[in-house]
Amino acid sequence: MASGLDGIVVAETALSEVDGEAGELIIRGYRLRSFAALGFEAAARELVGGELDLLAGRQRAYQCLAPLFPSLQHREPIEALRMGLASLASQTDAAVVIGAFPVILGAQRHGARTPRPGAGDHVYDLLSTACQAPPTAAEVTGLSRYLVTVSEHGMNASTFTARVIASTGAPLLDAVIGALGALKGPLHGGAPGPVLDLLDEMANSPDIPAELRARVSSGQRLMGFGHRIYRTRDPRADVLKEALTSLSGSPRLELAQKVEHHALEALRLAKPERRLDTNVEFYTAVLLERLGFSRDAFTALFATGRVLGWTAHYLEQRALGRLIRPGSLYTGPRPPAVSSCSPG
Ligand code: ACO
Repeated sequence: MASGLDGIVVAETALSEVDGEAGELIIRGYRLRSFAALGFEAAARELVGGELDLLAGRQRAYQCLAPLFPSLQHREPIEALRMGLASLASQTDAAVVIGAFPVILGAQRHGARTPRPGAGDHVYDLLSTACQAPPTAAEVTGLSRYLVTVSEHGMNASTFTARVIASTGAPLLDAVIGALGALKGPLHGGAPGPVLDLLDEMANSPDIPAELRARVSSGQRLMGFGHRIYRTRDPRADVLKEALTSLSGSPRLELAQKVEHHALEALRLAKPERRLDTNVEFYTAVLLERLGFSRDAFTALFATGRVLGWTAHYLEQRALGRLIRPGSLYTGPRPPAVSSCSPG
């Protein structure tokens, strides 16, 4: 029995294929690099389909959520998302659910003074809530590359959660709130904050290679490395690294490359039988920091991209109309056997 469902196929999907051996990700027929270059709104149409008016979605979300803005301010961003989404009406449509993410993250920073959406596109609206000055075109492209790169990735834990909820016939909003919960742990979406902690610690280390080797041999996991599916480099890491290098002035890039190099060396030495390589979270951390986001916002930003995949899988699962209900193997105590002899 596979304790983590490794290798078990739970659904057919026309959304994406993750080839862990080749390190290739195909989304809607595009290789990742081409898909990431589409931009957020085109990628959203590819995944979710239909007439998806994201500006109308953000405007409607703004209208519905405005009374809540003061209480969203200064909450942990992922908590703000959960609280904001939970206050929307149950039958909210896809454009409003997707549009609510930048609105809620704006309210988390600005409270009652949250700017109205519409100054630019979805990504511009999101980024302008984080920046002191209006974002540059290069910064908008950088964030768009990030959001689209993480938008869809096979049957990962949060997507599977969304599909299970969808299979019960629940509304999209509930599937998205459930998926958000699955993203919170460090083994799935919560690693990029700890990646920056690792970089901070390494910046002060007199001997980075020795420090990393000591961590791995004491059983610590290096954040930003390893993946359940990829047995080679996560292709998303390269797309994000490219997005980062095309932005000027990332103070961490040099250190990140050095830490990556020595971390891979330490992992190869300690676990020669297991190919552990850089995953998406490593350069996510450095890119989002360069774009002006604080580390406590990283998981919420991942969700802002991945909501496209959750929504697409929700629709795919609803079209199937079949409840997901796997079996389990009981290992608990059993009641004493009942005697089959009847008296007299
Ligand atoms: N650092 C050190 N050792 C590691 C790491 C790591 N990052 N990842 C796996 N290992 C080791 C494990 O300790 C284990 O060693 P053992 O066999 O001696 O016990 C071995 O490699 C296999 O580990 P598994 O837990 O079987 O690997 P799994 O496929 O379940 O885990 C995971 C994948 C959770 C991503 C893991 O690599 C990890 O914890 N990485 C660090 C956290 C991280 O970066 N998370 C983000 C993932 S990307 C995403 O979800 C968007």
